[in-house]
Amino acid sequence: AEIFNLVEKAALFKRICTTPNDIRSASEKEAVGWLKRADSLPILTGKTLAMIFKKRSTRTRVATETSMSLLGGHPMFLGSQDIQLGVNESLLDTSKVISSMTDGIMARVDSHSEILELAKYSRVPVINALSDESHPTQILADMLTLHEVFGKPGQSVQESLSNLLVTYIGDANNMLYEFLLAFPKCGMKLAISTPAKYSVPTARISKALSDAKDSVTLHDSPVSAIKDSRAIITDTWISMGQESEKKQRLIDFQGYCIDANMIQAGNPSKDWVFMHCLPRKQEEVSDQVFYSDRSVVFQEAENRKWTIMATIHSLLA
Ligand code: CP
Ligand code: NVA
Repeated sequence: AEIFNLVEKAALFKRICTTPNDIRSASEKEAVGWLKRADSLPILTGKTLAMIFKKRSTRTRVATETSMSLLGGHPMFLGSQDIQLGVNESLLDTSKVISSMTDGIMARVDSHSEILELAKYSRVPVINALSDESHPTQILADMLTLHEVFGKPGQSVQESLSNLLVTYIGDANNMLYEFLLAFPKCGMKLAISTPAKYSVPTARISKALSDAKDSVTLHDSPVSAIKDSRAIITDTWISMGQESEKKQRLIDFQGYCIDANMIQAGNPSKDWVFMHCLPRKQEEVSDQVFYSDRSVVFQEAENRKWTIMATIHSLLA
């Protein structure tokens, strides 16, 4: 329920902030409603969100800084070169100090244990902006995008995503782990194909299946995972921090590049779309698919903003 509420809130923020409102031609009732909604947005005046980023970011950073600005609060970006963390100071001390002066922390870390450590010693909410095991703010944007693409007028997020079959092809990484955590609980179905050497740990599959029976299927080939799918999703084969494995990974993932031939052979649902959290590298998806009208990657990227805005609003307002 919490996930659906956040995505519904994100859809509302998107509507409020992107629908042109010409107050001069609106009826009085419409104008009052619009002003009230616009007035209620800068609710975080005087509040600060510390953004501890140990890794690079385009989308997550821009989404967070721009949505903090719409909410009237202050985003304080703290990159690895800016603070003492990791060089002169521990996570424990950093968490205690930063949380004593701010209203929330967003953190992009290496190991997931770092997020847990930050949260353990923080007195303010900690938002996970990506760890080696998870990327929760990304999946909210993916769900909003799927809702926008496949929802019928008037349908709730939950209704529009119910039983939706999506396919993930590529590395068993933080994105796939996030899908395995959320999709079964949200009533969605996930077909997975990874190279055998990069398969999902059995415990993660068992957990997903115990959350929802028959919610996940594993496939030896990408083509078989695509059958009847509504969304074909991939991610980089070389996540941040795995750069030294690049040469071997490029060899191991041969045959996993999503291209028009693979999709045609896989026979997806006729309304299929392509998704990718970005940044995209050339090897995992062909330009033809990535820039086609089936690709919703830039809508998905923009939705990072509205879903992060909803997350911040829910935790800090
Ligand atoms: N998808 C995503 O998290 O992008 P950034 O790394 O640019 O934030
Ligand atoms: N799996 C990728 C996601 C980037 C948003 C990484 O961790 O680098």
